[in-house]
Amino acid sequence: MAEYINPDYVPEPEKMNVKKGLEGVVMDTSSVSKVNAETNSLVYRGYPVQDLAENCSFEEVAYLMYTGELPNKSQLEDFSKKEKSLRDITKDNLNVIKSLPKKCHPMDSVRTGVSFLGCEDERIWDATPATNLDKAIRLLAKIPTMVAADFRFKKGLDFIAPNPNLSIAENFFHMCFGKVPEARVVKAFDVSLILYAEHSFNASTFTARVVSSTQSDIYSATVAGIGALKGPLHGGANEMVMHMMIEIADATKAEQWMIDALAQKKKVMGFGHRVYKSGDSRVPTMKKYAQVMADVIGDQKWMQMYASLEKVMVEKKKIYPNLDFPAGPAYYMMGFEIDFFTPIFVMARTTGWSAHIMEQTANNRIIRPLSEYIGAAQRKVTPISERS
Ligand code: COA
Repeated sequence: MAEYINPDYVPEPEKMNVKKGLEGVVMDTSSVSKVNAETNSLVYRGYPVQDLAENCSFEEVAYLMYTGELPNKSQLEDFSKKEKSLRDITKDNLNVIKSLPKKCHPMDSVRTGVSFLGCEDERIWDATPATNLDKAIRLLAKIPTMVAADFRFKKGLDFIAPNPNLSIAENFFHMCFGKVPEARVVKAFDVSLILYAEHSFNASTFTARVVSSTQSDIYSATVAGIGALKGPLHGGANEMVMHMMIEIADATKAEQWMIDALAQKKKVMGFGHRVYKSGDSRVPTMKKYAQVMADVIGDQKWMQMYASLEKVMVEKKKIYPNLDFPAGPAYYMMGFEIDFFTPIFVMARTTGWSAHIMEQTANNRIIRPLSEYIGAAQRKVTPISERS
C-alpha cells in the first residue's frame, strides 16, 4: 500500500523536523568506536582500525571491544583459553540448525541458533557486567560453530567439531573445510573479521541497542542485530557484490556494465555509505588482502573487475566502495559459498554488538523516538452493520 497522507493534513513547520533515516542524529554518547568522515578514519577504543588489522589478532580486538584495552600476553592467554573452552554447541542446538529447511538462508540459521542459545542460558535475565561479558564471549565462541555447522549441513556433509588448538580464524576454516589453509589466507580472513568487528551506530548496532534499552537480554539484542544486518543495504551487500560480479562474468565487460547500471539509475551494491562521503576507511586494508587472495589462487579476474567498476563509479558519481566491495570477492576466493558471507560478518560484528549492548546496559535510557503523524484526522467508529 502506498503511503497514505491525510488530504487535510497541514504540516506544522515547528514539528516538521523529521530526520528521515535518522540522518545526522546523534542519539547517545559511546566510547566504543569513532567514524570520522572528514578524515576517512575509524578508531576502535582509540586505535586506528588499519593499525589493529596489521598488528593484532581478531582475538585481541575482541578483548579490546569488551574491556576497552588491548590485552597483555597473559590476559590474552586467559581470554583465548576461555573462548576456546566455549566453542562447542549442544546437540540440541546442532539438531535445530540441522532441522531447518535446506533452502533457508544461513543468516536465518544463525539467527535461530543464537535465539536457541538464549533459550539454553539459565542466566538469561542476569545482565550484570560480569555475566554479560561472559555471555559476549559465549557468542564469540559459539557463533562460528553454528555458521560452520550450517555450512556443512547445507552441503550434506557431517559436522566438524571445533578444535581448541586453533585460533578463531583457523578453527573456522577447519570446521568448514576440514583443513586450515596457508597462513596468508588465514591472515586475510582474520583481517576481515577485525575490519567487520565494529562501526559505531550503524543499523544493526542501533537495533541491538534499541532492544537492550528495553532491558531485554543480550541474545535477543543479538538476534535483532542479525535481522538488521541481513538486509542488502547493510551487511547483505557483501553477498550482492559477488552475485553482481558473477553476473558480469568478464572483467573486460565491467566498465560498460557499470555505465549501463548508472544510466538505469541502479543502486550498485558495495558502493556508498551514509557517513563516509569520500571513501570508507576500511577499504584500502581489505582491498590489499583481497589482492593477496587473488595472488594465492593465481587469478586476477575479480580484482580487475573491481578496478573497472570502481573507476567508473568514482569518475561518474564520486561514490566510493564500502567494505563489502572488497570483502565479497575476498571471501569468494577463500572458497566460501556466497550466502555465508554475511554470517561471517556476524561472527565479527558480535564483538561490536556486545560492546554496545554492555555500554547501553551500563547507562540506559529507553530509546523511544517520535513520529510526525500524517494519517487520518480523528473520526468516530461506525458499527460494522452501517459501513458501506
Ligand atoms: N549505487 C548508485 N547510486 C548510489 C549508491 C549506490 N550504491 N549509493 C548511493 N547512491 C546515490 C543515490 O542514488 C542518491 O542519489 P540521488 O541523490 O541522485 O538520488 C545518493 O547517492 C544518496 O544515496 P542514499 O541512498 O540516499 O544514501 P543513504 O545514506 O540513504 O544510503 C547506503 C547509504 C549505504 C544504504 C547506500 O549508499 C546504498 O544503498 N549502497 C548500496 C548498498 C551497500 O553497499 N550497503 C553496504 C553499506 S556499508
